[in-house]
Amino acid sequence: TDRTALGPLVGAIDQGTSSSRFLVFNAKTAELLSHHQVEISQKFPKEGWVEQDPKEILNSVFECVEKTCEKLKQLNINISNIKAIGVTNQRETTVVWDKTTGEPLYNAIVWLDLRTQSTVERLLKKIPGKNKAFSKFKTGLPLSTYFSAVKLRWLLDNVEEIKKAVGDGRAMFGTIDSWLIWSLTGGKNGGIHCTDVTNASRTMLFNIHSLEWDPELCQFFEIPMEILPKVRSSSEIYGLMKSGALTGVPISGCLGDQSAALVGQMCFQDGQAKNTYGTGCFLLCNTGQKSVFSEHGLITTIAYKLGRDKPVCYALEGSVAIAGAVVRWLRDNLGIAKSSQEVEKLAAEVGTSYGVYFVPAFSGLYAPYWEPSARGIICGLTQFTNKKHIAFAALEAVCFQTREILDAMNKDCGIPLSQLQVDGGMTNNKILMQLQADILCIPVVKPSMPETTALGAAMAAGAAEGVGVWSLNPGDWTAVTSERFEPQLNPEESEFRYARWKKAVLKSMGWETA
Ligand code: G3P
Repeated sequence: TDRTALGPLVGAIDQGTSSSRFLVFNAKTAELLSHHQVEISQKFPKEGWVEQDPKEILNSVFECVEKTCEKLKQLNINISNIKAIGVTNQRETTVVWDKTTGEPLYNAIVWLDLRTQSTVERLLKKIPGKNKAFSKFKTGLPLSTYFSAVKLRWLLDNVEEIKKAVGDGRAMFGTIDSWLIWSLTGGKNGGIHCTDVTNASRTMLFNIHSLEWDPELCQFFEIPMEILPKVRSSSEIYGLMKSGALTGVPISGCLGDQSAALVGQMCFQDGQAKNTYGTGCFLLCNTGQKSVFSEHGLITTIAYKLGRDKPVCYALEGSVAIAGAVVRWLRDNLGIAKSSQEVEKLAAEVGTSYGVYFVPAFSGLYAPYWEPSARGIICGLTQFTNKKHIAFAALEAVCFQTREILDAMNKDCGIPLSQLQVDGGMTNNKILMQLQADILCIPVVKPSMPETTALGAAMAAGAAEGVGVWSLNPGDWTAVTSERFEPQLNPEESEFRYARWKKAVLKSMGWETA
């Protein structure tokens, strides 16, 4: 078929915790035309530490862009039709680089990293009543190892090179979006140092109401404000690609991956929610132009701001650190299976955990507990237990964790969700999705276009002022459901198991104190 006359296309760079991808969509139909994916290595230099190489991340993105362009050419699709590029990324992960050399000054500290547990303890002592929620109404976040400010504090305290570069005025800080956009728009030769409001809202240095870096918080964390990127909306032209097959194409969309998935799932209305199963698992509910503050352990975050003159929208978020990562752990650390699919197969063979509960608190527990002292436990073992039960318990843990954040969301919002919209890699696992419906006692619904994160970034990029190839008018799109999982387990059994899970969670807490 002649695909030369396809019309405008939009690309999306999706830089996640486990892999980088570049995907190209048709702006008129949202059809995914081609993509390429490269896995990213994670380094665990010490217990609880998680790092990535920013150069490897950048090179993987270049590789994905080039390979996708080659694939498009093979499909007879003209890459000059790519009118814009959006960036979406793992959030909070912290990079500091030298703007004169373009080189990172340390590995990226990944969001999951726990090294800042003692930094958090030390900072807490400065706060009256050791109140973790001291900046809740300004940032939406509790003081935790999760967010960028403490990671940056650690880098400034512990890396000589960084201290020196800050003193010399050579240092730049950024989350992965900033690092990529700066590098792709020219790096040391005039790269644009910026971030968007959604990523900024994950640093704990950003006032989510005034939409500015907060001088008081910068002072509290002792962060020099001159190293921070400029904060822009999620949809506007930041700069142009300076090298490779797409040289000259504007980068005009930027959203943290969870915000991007919310946009890609078309959750533009107040009360619409999605749950994304990636390395972690993140349930976001759009609260519109009103910031809602949780009483039940959720955080308040920026959902998106789709244009310089467009309003900012907020979301309530339930963040779970370990979801897909537990399957990877069973594969890589315990070696009970060669692939993630095999883990699913093992679980399917038993269909129940026979009383085994697995709390994968590898990075402490996030929502709704925010307990850095928790560590993973597997309990309820008997001589009967085998690896299949453990595989099942691991999948069930993902579902229980989602149940906990859904319960919190329902309490905060007042109106319980009647079904759960899901996306992300793990949603290909049918056993997991059925189990999820069983544990939540509501239907679980999957969209026909599973690449919602990339789609959201492409939408933001294509709709930007000066690009204008993508319509964000919900009337122009109808979300098509591809699969629906109805609860099948009887609710008493579901409640019984959930109560057991809660008991296991209690056992995981207080294990490791800083
Ligand atoms: O907050 C971390 C989150 O953005 C990472 O997402 O998809 O890599 O689990 P993911």
